[in-house]
Amino acid sequence: MANWTQSSKRMLSEVMSAETWLPTEMPEYAQGFMYMLGSLTASSFVVLVISGILMAMNGPDVWSYNGAVRFIAATHFWSVQAFFFFMMLHLWRVFFTGAWRGGRGLTWLLGAVAFLIAIPTAFTGFLINGDLYAQWNAVQAKDGLNALGLGWVNLDNAGQMFGMHVVVLPLVLTVVIALHITRVRTKSVVPPYPDVKPSDSSSAKAVK
Ligand code: HEM
Repeated sequence: MANWTQSSKRMLSEVMSAETWLPTEMPEYAQGFMYMLGSLTASSFVVLVISGILMAMNGPDVWSYNGAVRFIAATHFWSVQAFFFFMMLHLWRVFFTGAWRGGRGLTWLLGAVAFLIAIPTAFTGFLINGDLYAQWNAVQAKDGLNALGLGWVNLDNAGQMFGMHVVVLPLVLTVVIALHITRVRTKSVVPPYPDVKPSDSSSAKAVK
């Protein structure tokens, strides 16, 4: 009879196998640009995290700019634009190819959770800029969260927002993305919908 040790052993051997992470063959349909969008999202996220770590090393006073910090801040800003841009295109691709099919529901769910966590991660980043725009956003969003009964999330508290943006949310997002990609590697990329020919009687019915 299967027990937890056996099922964990089976799962770990699949997740940790070289075949899972370094496949030598790839289905033909997965070789197009549309199937690269997830990797482009993940690559933007790596640049985002590295530039973020470099800025965090300067502490919360990083807005005292010099040329190098300005460059890193710009890299952080543009990689977040790329991250959301590619994530939206990836989301459209997985939607239009029905990528939740064939037992990929959890992959879909993890992607959706990553998307939902990415929003407050980016938003808290805007807030810690500390300028008037950030303060206005913090006050408005605080009203919204108060109305939702989430008063403990104090958007006016720069320290709390700094911790959320620099540690808590990116860590959670990293874990969710890692699980998403692990799931993609073990379940593989979804095959295209079956080709429906116009002469097919069932499709003719659908057209009527
Ligand atoms: C943080 C953002 C995300 C990253 C880094 C990411 C990364 C990836 C990667 C690398 C793949 C492999 C195939 C490909 O590149 O197209 C993939 C597949 C997949 N993604 Fe995402 N993804 C993200 C967000 C999402 C979202 C928002 C959804 C849907 C709500 C989603 C659903 C899926 C599904 C169902 C697959 C597996 C099936 C397939 O590729 O056909 N992902 N993802």
